[in-house]
Amino acid sequence: MKRKIKKNILVIHGPNLNLLGRREPGIYGKTTLRQINLALKKAAKKRRASLKIAQSNIEGEIVNLIGKSRLKFDGILINPAAYTHTSIAIRDAIAGSMIPAVEVHLSNIHAREEFRRKSLISAVARGTVMGFGPKSYLLGLEALLDIIDA
Ligand code: DQA
Repeated sequence: MKRKIKKNILVIHGPNLNLLGRREPGIYGKTTLRQINLALKKAAKKRRASLKIAQSNIEGEIVNLIGKSRLKFDGILINPAAYTHTSIAIRDAIAGSMIPAVEVHLSNIHAREEFRRKSLISAVARGTVMGFGPKSYLLGLEALLDIIDA
């Protein structure tokens, strides 16, 4: 039995993800953020979920979004981008939010430079999906909705 009829998900794209499509396409592919967002919305609709999608290049803005999320959202899907590797503030915001978060990455961060191999976010996420390009977001969304439905 489903707990709620409509699930509200906060999707956060971190720094430089606004440039997807032309940013290092050999690593991140040619799909734009707009295309990823459209695919996410389509997938969400099938699962009776609604998405609020935000992109920010500013750490504090992301912290604020997560900080305000608890009462409005059932879960967070986040690609923290470069802040994955540096941001204790985003990690603490997720830990304090009391709602499930799923971390996603387009690339496999373990197959890249040494400094990308550590995620400060993974320990406070329910799980991480990486390395599948835009599909990482779709798999992450499915997993998050399953957690909320469980
Ligand atoms: C990324 C991986 C990060 O290391 C990088 O800083 C990004 C994107 C990914 O989706 O593969 O901006 O999060």
